[in-house]
Amino acid sequence: MIESMAGLSRTHLCGEISEGLLGSEVTIMAWVQHRRDHGGLVFLDMRDKTGLVQTVFNPQEDPDTHRKSHDVRPEWVLALRGTVRRRPPDMVNPKIPTGAVEVLIKELRVLNDSKTPPFVVEDDAQVSESVRLKYRYLDLRRPRQGGLLALRDKVARLTRGYYSSNGFLDVETPFLTKSTPEGARDFLVPSRLNPSRFYALPQSPQLFKQLLMVAGFDRYCQIVRCFRDEDLRSDRQPEFTQVDMEMSFAEEDDVMRMAEGHMALLFREVLGVGLRLPLARLPYDQAMLGYGCDRPDLRYGLRIEEISDLLADSEAKVFRDPVRAGGCVRAIVAKGAQSQLSRKQLDDLVALAQSLGARGLAWVRVTPGGWQGPVAKFLSQGEVESITRRLSAAEGDIVFFGADRPELVSHVLGQIRATLAGLLGLVRDGDYSLSWVTDFPMFEWSQEEKRYVASHHPFTAPMEEDLELLETDPGNVRARAYDLVLNGSEIGGGSIRTHRRDIQERVFLALGIGPGEAQAKFGFFLEALSYGAPPHGGIALGLDRIVALLAGRESIRDVIAFPKTQKGVCPLTEAPGPAGPGQLAELGIRSLPANKGG
Ligand code: AMO
Ligand code: AMP
Repeated sequence: MIESMAGLSRTHLCGEISEGLLGSEVTIMAWVQHRRDHGGLVFLDMRDKTGLVQTVFNPQEDPDTHRKSHDVRPEWVLALRGTVRRRPPDMVNPKIPTGAVEVLIKELRVLNDSKTPPFVVEDDAQVSESVRLKYRYLDLRRPRQGGLLALRDKVARLTRGYYSSNGFLDVETPFLTKSTPEGARDFLVPSRLNPSRFYALPQSPQLFKQLLMVAGFDRYCQIVRCFRDEDLRSDRQPEFTQVDMEMSFAEEDDVMRMAEGHMALLFREVLGVGLRLPLARLPYDQAMLGYGCDRPDLRYGLRIEEISDLLADSEAKVFRDPVRAGGCVRAIVAKGAQSQLSRKQLDDLVALAQSLGARGLAWVRVTPGGWQGPVAKFLSQGEVESITRRLSAAEGDIVFFGADRPELVSHVLGQIRATLAGLLGLVRDGDYSLSWVTDFPMFEWSQEEKRYVASHHPFTAPMEEDLELLETDPGNVRARAYDLVLNGSEIGGGSIRTHRRDIQERVFLALGIGPGEAQAKFGFFLEALSYGAPPHGGIALGLDRIVALLAGRESIRDVIAFPKTQKGVCPLTEAPGPAGPGQLAELGIRSLPANKGG
């Protein structure tokens, strides 16, 4: 029978029941974690968000209440009134904070019952992600999962406090808006009042925050949802949250210092780790050359070294030919790897390189008798010596070589580097590496679209000294952009913006966006730039990624209350769902014939 809580009020949370309350009467309202029946005594472990507490029912003390305790099952919701007492010494549980005490119950009310849950509501229950997400409310009842959302709340509160105390104004920006390009597809929302017209959900509030600077707000920061229709991965959701900020009269250093202060606060308050500021800055070219990607994991070395100049005249065709064709040879030394990598693992690395498009992955073992490996015999003594010197290679090491077009070599050796770090156990739990990547190219050539696309977004300012290249050599224009990288993940990206209309128009032209298209898509924004837009810049930090990394989780789904699967589906609500013909007609949208519909 389900009872009312009327007349009872909760005095304590489960986690608060401690030795300080010995002898006091308390009322708790919580979920049944576990029931143990010891013939006479019945024990119920009760759970709420603060922890577990043990309750006891004794047939001698209160037969009615004791009888009632027999019927309850896990996940029932109870109100329990009783007296706190010390547990007998042999029943003390040092693993939980309330482990020295228990509550002897005088009154039990069943506030609700529960079906048998699809999995045990415990941290270590083995459950598939699809079941967890379908019953997310039970999943989040588990202490560890629930704790991740509490951590997220803490990060959000610290963040708001930090920017607020630095003079940033929190302003809400629209969700029903026009396309704000960040390189993904838009989610479109049909407008009933304007047939055949669509809003786009914002990929970021980029243009609005710039408009707020034009409006004179000086500093803006918002924790805001962004929407991007792109292929999903463990670190990508179709809707995700940014800490989005913008500052007027600011240059790179101002924005970067502000973001560094924010990160230092989070590291200190969440991890108890002191960050050494200012953070290191790595130019994009050096990141690509030395680590093979623009978000290098700097928790370990394994730097990629250029050795093309040493092999231009080599007898080894695999190296000489690519160099002569304008390509390069680069190498990674894996220190002491001979004793750690099996032949099978070496073969797997070669196969990995090939799967990424390389023709091969040459390697040699450095031994007292010289180099051994598939390409060793083609290398002269002089080449071996000069390469050994450049790489500081030593006995016991394995050297890996990539030879091809520079972009391909970077890509392949970048992946080999990350894989080697795993195989050699170079990444330790609790290691953090946070740094900036700067000096990005402004544009990238898109082979698909046969035009330049913006590496960041089109509102990023080109470097002053590269302005004249906008028309003549867009591929060599550098952007005033910076990315923040934590342990090999991009956790933030921003830039100084173009605040002059004429330069913005030239950037559009370089992107193949002519005056007509620029006017149609961004006319409102160009117009705003012509009314005294101040110099400004900012950054957006990926809140989901930051919380996941601080919590040591692989997937951002763990730190989002109701995430979507890789297919963009919410298993709990079954969104996205079909729309009825009436609803579609109202929106002026024709439905697909039934046999063609999804
Ligand atoms: P950017 O596109 O780099 O910049 O986004 C900023 C940060 O947001 C995070 N992020 C994501 N997190 C989860 N799921 C996604 N699908 C996703 N996409 C991006 C990343 C990224 O670094 N308007 C600019 C910022 C600016 O210039 O100020 C912007 O949105 O951590
Ligand atoms: P091959 O002459 O093709 O038998 O290759 C000899 C060795 O060089 C093998 O170990 C290949 O994996 C390696 N190799 C071949 N092509 C390349 C390349 N482009 N870059 C690096 N190693 C290569």
